[in-house]
Amino acid sequence: MKLFGFAGTAHKPSYTANIIEKLSDELKREGVIDTAVIFKGSDVDVTMCKGCLSCYQCGNCILDAHDDMSRLKNEILSSDIVVFGSPVYVHDVSGTMKNFIDRFVVWMYLYRLVGKTAVTVSASASNGNIFVDKYLQKVLKIMGANVAGSISVNMFTRPEEIDSQIRKCCDAVKNSIVNGITEPDMLQEEYFSATRQTILHPLAKGYLADYWKEKDLAEYEKYMDYYNSYSKTAIQEAKKW
Ligand SMILES: Cc1cc2nc3c(=O)[nH]c(=O)nc-3n(C[C@H](O)[C@H](O)[C@H](O)COP(=O)(O)O)c2cc1C
Repeated sequence: MKLFGFAGTAHKPSYTANIIEKLSDELKREGVIDTAVIFKGSDVDVTMCKGCLSCYQCGNCILDAHDDMSRLKNEILSSDIVVFGSPVYVHDVSGTMKNFIDRFVVWMYLYRLVGKTAVTVSASASNGNIFVDKYLQKVLKIMGANVAGSISVNMFTRPEEIDSQIRKCCDAVKNSIVNGITEPDMLQEEYFSATRQTILHPLAKGYLADYWKEKDLAEYEKYMDYYNSYSKTAIQEAKKW
């Protein structure tokens, strides 16, 4: 299995990236993953979204060919576990992280992370992690992932507490891989239902409406039903591990 990690920091060395690396090492030690690709905002070129919304017309961002986003998106698609981590900047995600997330705007309608397990990481000096954890969880859920857990640290978090959060997260990741989403998630259900209503509107046309038709997404009233139909095979495969 493969892990993709992104630390939304322009700073070197990065506390956020360090935590993602620790989680990756533990997952490797436990035999859950054999490959990990971890990127830092400081090492990749991610242009700010220009707001043209051409991605709504074709499913792809026209900037992807000109910076590192195409590679980053492909790495995510070929991974089983996706980790989004951000330092806390004024009680929110960093600008680097927000830039990165904005480039996925069309994925909010495409469920590209269905069947994948996700983890969020937030790192602060002292406080504000809760807002970052919540936002990163929301983004990953909307893209279809099963958010197994969150690691939340500040400058005062003792090494044993960090280790304990990492071990707990590792167990949650293993559980997610074997059992998938077992309970409907309110946020995921509400978002799916609202998008479905828009897509089913008689006037809805274009790439997104076609995509929902092609993938039979609109056939399902609930995200959980779509998820179950999609992930049955993937989960059966995972159970062999
Ligand atoms: C612009 C800016 C805003 C910040 N805002 C907060 C904050 O609201 N709360 C906090 O506890 N730390 C805040 N910090 C501190 C960072 O969250 C902290 O240094 C974090 O560990 C950096 O992670 P990194 O090393 O991965 O970049 C801020 C730092 C910067 C540069």
